Amino acid sequence: MGSLHVISHPLIEAKLTRMRDKDTPSPEFRTLLREISLLMGYEITRDFPTHLISVETPICLGEFPALKDDFFTIVPILRAGLGMVDGLLELMPFAHVGHIGLVRNEQTHLPEEYYYKMPEGYERSVIMVVDPMLATGGSAVDAIDSLKRRGCNNIRLVNLVAAPRGIDAVRAAHPDVDIYVAAVDEGLNEHAYIVPGLGDAGDRIFGTR
Ligand code: PRP
Ligand code: URA
Repeated sequence: MGSLHVISHPLIEAKLTRMRDKDTPSPEFRTLLREISLLMGYEITRDFPTHLISVETPICLGEFPALKDDFFTIVPILRAGLGMVDGLLELMPFAHVGHIGLVRNEQTHLPEEYYYKMPEGYERSVIMVVDPMLATGGSAVDAIDSLKRRGCNNIRLVNLVAAPRGIDAVRAAHPDVDIYVAAVDEGLNEHAYIVPGLGDAGDRIFGTR
């Protein structure tokens, strides 16, 4: 069974509190999301294997750790997942980026796929699916389904705020996937929005409402 990692850190908590405030404007909201994503990246990558390589320092030759693989694919679920990409790329500039476009149907709350574009050979890489919100879990489950159908089997999911229902849905459908979140909130309202949450992440990132 994949693990649930709740990444708690005072800086992440304080930044997330600013993001929850309905009066925090889009430019600040985007900056905070980028910063939290970078901070979360530190934990998400903690188990990446290293091996020793030879390096000549100005003083002597030695053996030092380097990443064993450098093929990582960050997969934002459009649109809101885009807000997490820059922070992770700052940490891992060598990572590739693939995109999955999903939108929740406002009546059924079910996700519909409208875009899928991945880097070549991505099936063999470590894949980090990123989306700030894990509400019913429908979008994340669908995105991971899509990736697995195309042969991916090393997937982790990264969310900023998750509802227990979304976590349960992902764990039931994809028990092999580790989930990384900054906060687990109380639940969902009648529109399947996370409570207390931070509202519509896509709209707040892109200023569309
Ligand atoms: C939001 C969010 C997730 C999804 C979460 O996207 O970014 O992708 O809803 O909800 P779920 O867990 O119930 O599926 P939305 O469909 O609003 O699209 P957007 O990112 O383009 O705004
Ligand atoms: N999508 C969002 O952007 N926010 C929520 O609370 C739920 C789904």
